[in-house]
Amino acid sequence: MKKINQPFNAYADYYDSFYQDKDYVGETKFILNVLKNFSKDKGKEILSLGCGTGTYEILLSQAGYQLVGVDFSDKMLSIAKEKAGQAGAKIKFFKGDVRKFTTPQKFSHVLALFNIIGYQNSDLDLENFIKTAGRHLKPGGLFMFDGWYQPAILKDRPQNRRKIIKLANGRRLERITTQTLNIEKSLLQITFQLKELGASRKIIEVKEEHPMRFFTLNEIAYFLTKNGFQLIKSCRFKHLQEAISEDYWDIFVIAKKI
Ligand SMILES: C[S@@+](CC[C@H](N)C(=O)[O-])C[C@H]1O[C@@H](n2cnc3c(N)ncnc32)[C@H](O)[C@@H]1O
Repeated sequence: MKKINQPFNAYADYYDSFYQDKDYVGETKFILNVLKNFSKDKGKEILSLGCGTGTYEILLSQAGYQLVGVDFSDKMLSIAKEKAGQAGAKIKFFKGDVRKFTTPQKFSHVLALFNIIGYQNSDLDLENFIKTAGRHLKPGGLFMFDGWYQPAILKDRPQNRRKIIKLANGRRLERITTQTLNIEKSLLQITFQLKELGASRKIIEVKEEHPMRFFTLNEIAYFLTKNGFQLIKSCRFKHLQEAISEDYWDIFVIAKKI
């Protein structure tokens, strides 16, 4: 089996198939609702950090926003560009690292969706990621992201999982997810392994490792404040009226650029 250290390389080919059940439409409605209720700036420009295959960006563009997406995976970006082209969505996609990406344009809003903050394993990465958002926001603009909440992960410990998906060409793939908790470093080491199902059950090639960091709210608030933001709202992801709790891993944070 080939071991691939760069995440979202070979895995990118299967990304949309694996997340075909993810409620991107409902989550985009949630974001639109957040913008309506929390953003004083009615500007339409959104910078999306870690845009991946561009699903949120296409939906937001169809809702009337002007999107710029950044990702460091060539493969994810090429899928995003193809999908945007097919959808007739005019979106600018840049290859870049969310910890240092810079463009002269300023935005009314910055998004980082599907746990992009979790890829910021060190404090330095986290600060650089927050600084990227700050560098591109107009004063008063909002930085919105989802992530994993430490107390929930420690209460409801991760388990290894197996998921079977059907690809468009009729092939069936099994994804085995192995998760190892590193409490000392607040990291969940996730390994994805893909196998083709059938008589041979051969391992098609992919083993990717994704170390994902989880956070307390205090930590997030500390690094936001240190880097020019004010935390204005936290809630359970997709549930504006529900406070974060140890019962749900996914949290959502809204921060305002000072
Ligand atoms: C779980 S996917 C989310 C993609 C997309 N936002 C979505 O919701 O489908 C994480 C994405 O973040 C990108 N990513 C992770 N760390 C990054 C970094 N430092 N700079 C740029 N992109 C990064 C990966 O390449 C991948 O496309």
